[in-house]
Amino acid sequence: MSKKIGVKNVFVTGGSGKIGRALLPELVAAGYKVRALQFDEAIECDGVELLDGDLRDPKLAAKALKGMDGVIHLGNCKENRDQFMDTNIKGTFYLLDEAMRRPHIRQFIQAGSDARAGIFYHPRPYPIAEDFPHAAYPGYYAFSKVLEEVMCEQYRIQYGTPITVLRFSWVHEDDDFLCHVTLREPNFGVPVWKELARTPQQKKFFKNGLDGVACLVHPGGRPGVRHIVGIKDAVQGIMLSLNNPAALGHAFAITGPSAFSYDVAAKYLAKKLGLPVVEFECDDFHDFSHTIAKPRSILGYDPQYDIFKIIDEGVAFRKAGGKRHPIKYIG
Ligand SMILES: NC(=O)c1ccc[n+]([C@@H]2O[C@H](COP(=O)([O-])OP(=O)(O)OC[C@H]3O[C@@H](n4cnc5c(N)ncnc54)[C@H](O)[C@@H]3O)[C@@H](O)[C@H]2O)c1
Repeated sequence: MSKKIGVKNVFVTGGSGKIGRALLPELVAAGYKVRALQFDEAIECDGVELLDGDLRDPKLAAKALKGMDGVIHLGNCKENRDQFMDTNIKGTFYLLDEAMRRPHIRQFIQAGSDARAGIFYHPRPYPIAEDFPHAAYPGYYAFSKVLEEVMCEQYRIQYGTPITVLRFSWVHEDDDFLCHVTLREPNFGVPVWKELARTPQQKKFFKNGLDGVACLVHPGGRPGVRHIVGIKDAVQGIMLSLNNPAALGHAFAITGPSAFSYDVAAKYLAKKLGLPVVEFECDDFHDFSHTIAKPRSILGYDPQYDIFKIIDEGVAFRKAGGKRHPIKYIG
């Protein structure tokens, strides 16, 4: 890697969240001094300085960025019309505006999302690249991810703020993928299989509490294609970007090594769990995939979690009776 940019002290928001929980120990292990913003949930990570505060507080940023060289901004609220403006938009603005005034901030990493490109909502039969224009799907979460990025872009253009945007796909930890495709609760994610049950055979699963593995198909029977990312690959993307001069001024897709097809995933998981595959036809899901050529060539990003590894680890987690983290946003 080329010369580092001198980030040693990092302020992290969202440290109790899905990505933050996995990231904090990696930062500490890599030798960074970490200050983490603690808000509604306790952060449990040895070696991290905790700062209690709220992103909506205009006075927070000055305290938070004092003595720091880098920012990793992961904290936000999700699909929440009443809160996203204050938490996500103003919260990001306060941090950016403070970073702009502090030349000691050498890098500001903003958590973006592939929701900014509208993913399954828009027909797009080719891989999405970083230069694809923002095209959020309806709702306040995707809208918020576009507005956050636009603010970052403008701080970079207007003031040279050293921004890196990492656009994560739906991040999978624990047995998230199993919860997405198996029919018994806990079940989450889009599409909602129960709402797509039309035939008596499909309805029987929900009526009788039977389990099966969902396979999303388009009208005509072609299986759906989707791109997600394993939590360890998401963390890899952040660690490779942090302190990396080549990452400054760029947005990167941080996603899995390749997209998966629902039929392949469903067959593989069904065999492992001894369950039937149940097809659900969905007429408003559009296939999507991302190219990761840019993070591969610029960052050396090398994601390890294809759909089989995500499933294998999810099955192992379930078999071991792992305790799931509560889910806040259905990807
Ligand atoms: N998890 C995913 O699948 C995914 C996918 C794409 C992008 N992202 C982005 O990555 C980032 C992190 O996502 P996540 O899933 O880890 O988050 P999460 O929902 O699990 O956690 C959110 C975090 O934000 C903090 N927070 C919320 N409101 C706050 C406030 N007012 N003040 C201070 N802190 C506050 C919470 O305490 C928590 O630590 C977000 O920007 C998200 O949009 C996540």
